Amino acid sequence: MANKEEKPEGKDSSWKDFIYNPRTGEFIGRTASSWALIFLFYLVFYGFLAGMFSLTMWVMLQTLNDYTPKYRDRVASPGLMIRPKYFDIEVNRSNPQQYNKYVQGLESFLQQYNDTLQEQNTVCTEGDYYMQENNELVKNVCQFKRSQLRQCSGLADTNFGYAEGQPCVLIKMNRIIGLVPRGDPYINCTAKRDTPLQMQYFPSEGRFDKMYFPYYGKKAHPNYVQPVVAVKLLFSEQDYNTQLTIECRVEGSDLRNNDERDKFLGRVTFRIQVTK
Ligand SMILES: *[C@@H]1O[C@H](CO)[C@@H](O)[C@H](O)[C@H]1NC(C)=O
Ligand SMILES: *[C@@H]1O[C@H](CO)[C@@H](O)[C@H](O)[C@H]1NC(C)=O
Ligand SMILES: *[C@@H]1O[C@H](CO)[C@@H](O)[C@H](O)[C@H]1NC(C)=O
Repeated sequence: MANKEEKPEGKDSSWKDFIYNPRTGEFIGRTASSWALIFLFYLVFYGFLAGMFSLTMWVMLQTLNDYTPKYRDRVASPGLMIRPKYFDIEVNRSNPQQYNKYVQGLESFLQQYNDTLQEQNTVCTEGDYYMQENNELVKNVCQFKRSQLRQCSGLADTNFGYAEGQPCVLIKMNRIIGLVPRGDPYINCTAKRDTPLQMQYFPSEGRFDKMYFPYYGKKAHPNYVQPVVAVKLLFSEQDYNTQLTIECRVEGSDLRNNDERDKFLGRVTFRIQVTK
């Protein structure tokens, strides 16, 4: 019985001793100097780790350059996009307010291709890549004037053909740093129906000239404008009032255009309907 009564008291006092033992001066089993050593050790240890981290980070950043990406995967294939930015274009010829959003979209996109603006850029050699690996950090930009898009430039015909029911659509290729397409890429659009639809391409044959490649990136290549191809859909009376699906692909080069999973890789599809 006596034993039973002592036990809890003994336990209690050893618990208190564990927190602070007045006899040895230990706090949670360690003396103050032991604790101080532990804190000092961890302070030095973590300080060292932080120092190591900062040093390696700093060394890494020294090897990077804002102008050229250091590591690059296999250069990807670009996606295609259209302007105006609508995949379902409906044109009511007799209602300018209705198709005005398309005209506005084209006009604002072409601002950067303004002839006066582009005249400040370099006149490059057609048919040659414009390699500038050894040039200054800031690369030259090859001229692309909107007037090259002729009937689709919005200059002579400010409605881009929407008023006459033969609308223009611009095809642009997304920018990919370092892309140098092999071959002669051009745009080929087809209407998904039995009889072909007449189309006109600007620049001629829908070509993306080699001189606009490669692109060196936002910082190294400021004011770069990517080449665009304009397609004028030559609708006639009997093509009106039916919705047509048009698919445009980049052909004639090693750029991919038939990926099953990515339907924008090297191609773009849109629907268009013209009513009177
Ligand atoms: C086209 O616009 C005209 C004028 O606003 C209108 O009378 C006509 O119903 C419209 N046609 C269609 C198919 O929406
Ligand atoms: C582009 O050119 C047109 C006329 O040629 C002018 O009205 C317009 O302000 C110019 N835009 C820019 C951004 O220079
Ligand atoms: C465009 O594509 C169509 C359908 O794939 C093909 O029949 C035609 O020959 C192509 N045109 C050119 C110029 O490559």
